[in-house]
Amino acid sequence: MCGIVGIIGNPDAKEILLKGLEKLEYRGYDSAGIALSNEAGVKVFKEKGRIADLRSIVDETVTAEIGIGHTRWATHGVPSRLNAHPHKSASNRFTIVHNGVIENYDLLKKEYLADVEMKSDTDTEVVIQLIEHFVESGKDVKAAFVQTLKMLKGSYAFALLDEQNKDVIYVAKNKSPLLVGLGEDFNVVASDAMAMLQVTDQYVELVDKEIVLVSKDKVVIETLDGEVISREAYTAELDASDIEKGTYPHYMLKEIDEQPLAIRKIIQQYRAEDGKLTIDPAIIDAVKAADRLYIIAAGTSYHAGLLGKQFIESLAKIPVEVHVASEFSYNMPLLSEKPLFIFITQSGETADSRAVLVQVKELGYPAITITNVPGSTLSREADYTLLLHAGPEIAVASTKAYTAQMAVLSILAEVTGRSKGYDSSFDLVHELGIIANAMEVVFEQKEELETIAREYLSTTRNAFFIGRGIDYYVGLEGALKLKEISYIQAEGFAGGELKHGTIALIEDGTPIIALATQESVNLSIRGNVKEVVARGANPCIISMKGLEMDGDRFIVPAVHELLTPLISVLPLQLISYYAALHRDCDVDKPRNLAKSVTVE
Ligand code: F6R
Repeated sequence: MCGIVGIIGNPDAKEILLKGLEKLEYRGYDSAGIALSNEAGVKVFKEKGRIADLRSIVDETVTAEIGIGHTRWATHGVPSRLNAHPHKSASNRFTIVHNGVIENYDLLKKEYLADVEMKSDTDTEVVIQLIEHFVESGKDVKAAFVQTLKMLKGSYAFALLDEQNKDVIYVAKNKSPLLVGLGEDFNVVASDAMAMLQVTDQYVELVDKEIVLVSKDKVVIETLDGEVISREAYTAELDASDIEKGTYPHYMLKEIDEQPLAIRKIIQQYRAEDGKLTIDPAIIDAVKAADRLYIIAAGTSYHAGLLGKQFIESLAKIPVEVHVASEFSYNMPLLSEKPLFIFITQSGETADSRAVLVQVKELGYPAITITNVPGSTLSREADYTLLLHAGPEIAVASTKAYTAQMAVLSILAEVTGRSKGYDSSFDLVHELGIIANAMEVVFEQKEELETIAREYLSTTRNAFFIGRGIDYYVGLEGALKLKEISYIQAEGFAGGELKHGTIALIEDGTPIIALATQESVNLSIRGNVKEVVARGANPCIISMKGLEMDGDRFIVPAVHELLTPLISVLPLQLISYYAALHRDCDVDKPRNLAKSVTVE
C-alpha cells in the first residue's frame, strides 16, 4: 500500500525511479510522483493516475543523480495531484515520500504547526512541516528527523531529501516495509526488492524505529537513540523474469496458469529423500504441543485459512479457529490454554495480520507465518516460517498464492497427523500431483469458461456463489475474485442459508454459481439450486467428475475430496478474469485496491 523508491549516486536516477515505480504499482496506483535533486534544486513531478500518467509529465531534459519516488493508495485526502507525494516543506527545503498512516497527525498539526499553511490534506505533509519546524528551531536535520519520528504514532516508511545536503537520503520505517539496496557507487531505497532488482540484488533489511542515512557509498543505520547498527546485506532471490508478464496480456492470467508449476514446486520443496512430505520438526512439535490453533489472515488468505481448518482438523485432529485479522486485534476471543497462531499472508506485510502477531508475541504465544515472501515482516517476526514457493504474485487479485496456501496447509496437516500416528495411507504427494495435472485439464477449457463469463456475467449487476461445506468456502473466494476485478456485486453463501434471507434478492436471470464437489452434500446443494431456479435464477453448476448431473455447466476432473478447493477454484478465477475483460475492467489493477495492505 503505497510504494517508495529512492536512489543516490546514479546519473540515470530519473529512469530508474520511474521503472521502480512501475514495478511497485501493485502497491497503489491512484497517483504517483518523483523528486529529482540536482544543482538547480529539488524538482517535483506528480500526477493523479498511473505511472504512465506521471511519465507523460516528467520533464525529459531534467537529469539527476539523486531522487525519491512514490506510488500512492490514498488514505488521508482524495487521490489528486495535490495530495500525491512527494510533499515539500513550507520553505521548499525538504521533500518527503511516505507509506503508512500517521494517526496523531492532527494533534501534532494543532500543537506545533498552527501557523503553517498546509498545501495538501495528507498526514504526510504534517511530518515534513514538523521536520522543518524543528530545523528552524535550531536542530540539525538528522536530529529534527529523529525528534519527529519519536513523536509519531502509526505506521511509516519515509525517504527524505534535504536541498541543502545532496549527499544523503534520510530513511526510516515503522510497521511499513522498506529496504536499502546496495549498488556500485550508488545506493537505493525501496518498499520491495522487486522495484530495484533492475540495478541490484543486494539488500539490507531495516528494522522498525531505526534511522538510516543513505549516501552513494555508504549506509549508516542507527537506532533512534543514536546506537549504530551493523547489518549484513542479503541477496534477493528473485528472478527478473518472474516479475515480467512475458507474452501474457495480464499478470492475473499468467499467475492463474502458473498454479500447476507452483504445486509441483511445493511438492519438491517439502519432500524428503524418502519421498515423504516433511516439515521442520520444530514446527511440527510446536503444532502438536498446542491444544488449539488460531489461523489469522485477511481476504483471500482468510479464505485459504477456512480450508486449512478443514485439512488440519481432519488430518491432524487439532481444533482450529479461523479469524479475520482486523477483527481479532480489537476483539480477541477467549484463548485456549496452549494456543499456537498461524498467520497466512501472501505478502507477509499485511498490517492487520501483523498487528495480531505483535499482540500474540507480547502475550508470549508461538507463531508460524505461511507466506510467499521470504524475509517479509511477518516472516521475520514469527517463530517459524513456511514458504509458499509460488513465485512473485503481482496481479492485485490473488490466485496462485491461494492454491499454494492450501497446498502448504494440507502438507502441515498431513505431516502433523502422520507424526501423531494417524492414517498413513493418505498419500498427499500423489494427491497433490493429481491436482497439478487436473489444473492443466481445466486450463484446456478456457474457451468454455470465457463463454460462461460472457453468458452469465457480462451485463449482470450481481451474482451469488453457493456451496455446502468445503464448497461454501470456495464460493466465498469465487465471489471475492469476481467482485474485486469486475465490480459485480458478488456474494458467497452456504447453500442452506440462502433461503434465510438472501433469497429475497433473487430476480429473473440472477446468476447463481453453484459448486458441487462433495458427495455428501451433492443432492442437497442441487436442492438449493432448485429453490433459486424456482424464483427465476440462472444457475451455473460447477461439479466434479463422478458427481455430475444433467445440465451441469462445467465439470472439473476428479481429485481427492478434501483437496477439491485446489481445483474447483480455478474455473471461478477464470470466470472472474473473463468477466472483467468483457466489462472492460483493468484486470491487474482494479479500482480502489492495492496488493499489499500495509495500513490497518
Ligand atoms: C484478494 C487479495 C486480498 C489479499 C489480502 C491479504 O485477491 O489479494 O484479499 O488476500 O489483502 O493479503 P496477504 O495475503 O498479502 O496478507
